[in-house]
Amino acid sequence: MPMPFVKPVSRPLNTVSEAPPVVTGAAGLRASLRAARARGERIALVPTMGNLHRGHLQLVRLAATRAERIVVSIFVNPLQFGPSEDFARYPRTLQADLKALQELGLPVLVFAPETDVFYPDGPELASRVEVGGLSEILCGASRPGHFTGVATVVLKLFNLVQPDVAVFGRKDYQQLQVIRRMVRDLDVPVDIVSGETVREPDGLALSSRNAFLDAGQRRQATSLHATLQALAEALVRGDAAIDELEQRGWRELEKAGLQPDYVSIRRQRDLGGAGTADRELVVLAAARLGTTRLIDNIEIRRD
Ligand code: PAJ
Repeated sequence: MPMPFVKPVSRPLNTVSEAPPVVTGAAGLRASLRAARARGERIALVPTMGNLHRGHLQLVRLAATRAERIVVSIFVNPLQFGPSEDFARYPRTLQADLKALQELGLPVLVFAPETDVFYPDGPELASRVEVGGLSEILCGASRPGHFTGVATVVLKLFNLVQPDVAVFGRKDYQQLQVIRRMVRDLDVPVDIVSGETVREPDGLALSSRNAFLDAGQRRQATSLHATLQALAEALVRGDAAIDELEQRGWRELEKAGLQPDYVSIRRQRDLGGAGTADRELVVLAAARLGTTRLIDNIEIRRD
């Protein structure tokens, strides 16, 4: 039986709303969405791996400005984790996630499939979506197969939900560009909308992985955003050549005790190397603190 939807909201803040319905199978999902579509509702999808924080919730709010019905998918996708990565310890907090969504008071349906619903023959044997070029650089260079895993699961979600709009965070800048490219290359009829990075007061981008940091590492982690911010300002001022700035950023991160994976200034559009004529740039970095890998970026426009 399809679960009923929560009524669209027009209630004041702080009143208790119903918990969002949860569907775990493709048939239930399709049936619920068919009913919503029959009522003329637009559907927005917010894909997540759960352990929802304010960054995710901001995307759900953004989705609500674009559609009458929001599907939040919660699935820790094994296909996008490398063999030595943190799939096993990735935080799974479904009950808390449902409560956080309930408090938003928005018309949300949660799609939380089991792995075998998603990959009936196991992730290893699944058909895959390769987004050429973009998937191999930056994070893709140190996480081989990661963006193929992301593109595959996102295309599956698009096919299951058939949303009008899908919302992604600019925190995962390369992921967003990979998805935009996939949608363009494969003519997927979905509008991709992006939401701003939500940060802690000291600038650290919210991430489920921040929970792995001990108190000392948490203090060191602030240097990631601070370094990117300093590079972005130097770039706007035209202080130094791009490769010099990248090296400066690398040294700053090392000085703060992080192990940089890359510090790079790229064109926003396709993450290609930034030339002097390029105006819309993004400063990106990934770095390790112990066993935790953090990423962040800042977009800039230079005139
Ligand atoms: P996850 O890391 O759970 O992130 C889900 C969405 O939330 C992504 O679009 C991500 O960019 C966004 N997000 C994460 N932290 C954010 C922050 N601090 N501010 C704003 N948005 C933020 O990204 C994934 O899951 C997965 O790769 C997924 C797309 C679900 C495919 O499995």
